[in-house]
Amino acid sequence: MPIYQTSGFEFEDPAVFADGMTRPDGAFVYARYSNPTVRSLEDAVAGLEGGVAAVAAASGMGAINMVLLGLLQPGDHVIAQHALYGGTAHMLDDLVERFGIQVSYVPEHDPAAVRAAIRPRTKLLYLETIANPMTQVADLPAMCAAAREAGILTAVDNTFASPILCRPIEHGADIVLHSTTKYLGGHADIIGGLAVFADDALYRKIWSYACTLGATPDPFAAWLTLRGMQTLALRMERHCANARVLATRLAGHPAVAAVHWPGLASHPSHEIAAKLLPDFSGVLSFDLLGGRAAGEKFMSSVRLALLAPSLGGVETLILHPASTSHRHLDEEQLAQAGIGAGTVRVAVGIEHAEDLWADIAQALD
Ligand SMILES: Cc1ncc(COP(=O)(O)O)c(C=O)c1O
Repeated sequence: MPIYQTSGFEFEDPAVFADGMTRPDGAFVYARYSNPTVRSLEDAVAGLEGGVAAVAAASGMGAINMVLLGLLQPGDHVIAQHALYGGTAHMLDDLVERFGIQVSYVPEHDPAAVRAAIRPRTKLLYLETIANPMTQVADLPAMCAAAREAGILTAVDNTFASPILCRPIEHGADIVLHSTTKYLGGHADIIGGLAVFADDALYRKIWSYACTLGATPDPFAAWLTLRGMQTLALRMERHCANARVLATRLAGHPAVAAVHWPGLASHPSHEIAAKLLPDFSGVLSFDLLGGRAAGEKFMSSVRLALLAPSLGGVETLILHPASTSHRHLDEEQLAQAGIGAGTVRVAVGIEHAEDLWADIAQALD
């Protein structure tokens, strides 16, 4: 796919020009509305997710905001799971404070809590397939069914699973969200996001909102994402295999109090995860016996893993969620998301597993 590095397109027929501005399947007119390189990415991810179409955005948060702001009105009510990406949690707080939108929080595995939370103005159930950073896995079939019974849309952030491990539309989701910055792009060289839709009318509604919102991706970022996606399946295999090695060995190490990775039988989501996912992705968290001080010492002692934000690239990255990605959460919200003061998150890359373990073991020592 070439990079269509252009802001607009030239026409001979004024009617075709005018028509292209009104719908996503008309002619390409202006790159804030649609661009062929970006469309190619949208079609590729919609295909992988089993949706009818997708709208790309300049970042994962751009895609999330495009959906929230495109769907919700003041006075509406959202049901969200407790454990959310920090940026999403921050945005929901902002919607409550500044736009009069109500949000109720429920556990990601409890459809009865969804039914109990439903109000006349409930519009959306918001979930994450695998939550950041404690890796709780949502019971997508049960949660989506509870929302559907009540006529409510479900949006699922599928960033951590990628369509290789989970296709939420098959489990009843209406909208699938991605930070393509992560596994889809795969090389830590772009920021991007995307929403996939199960339904054509919903797709057109959000496309139309996205045209004026303007969180449009650049065609070069879309092209790099497409390039990265060619190795998505291979990379996911290695991310999952490496995470299994590290999680198992960390769980047996005397300095480690707890390991959070849904592939371990000790993880609270293991049963749901084993039914929903063929493998358990590449992000894990762990708590050291020495709490926050030990966590900080560990993070400044690793040599191969990088102390850096984000995940889903080829290199292993570590961070301290309570002071970085989840810094907006107060003590109670941190506790509800299951994040400890000393929790360390590891976004496992595709390096050789023994090199990674050697690095982690020397840092633990
Ligand atoms: C699960 C999840 N969703 C959304 C986002 C936001 O994506 P972006 O940084 O591309 O805006 C992130 C970023 O870390 C994330 O981890």
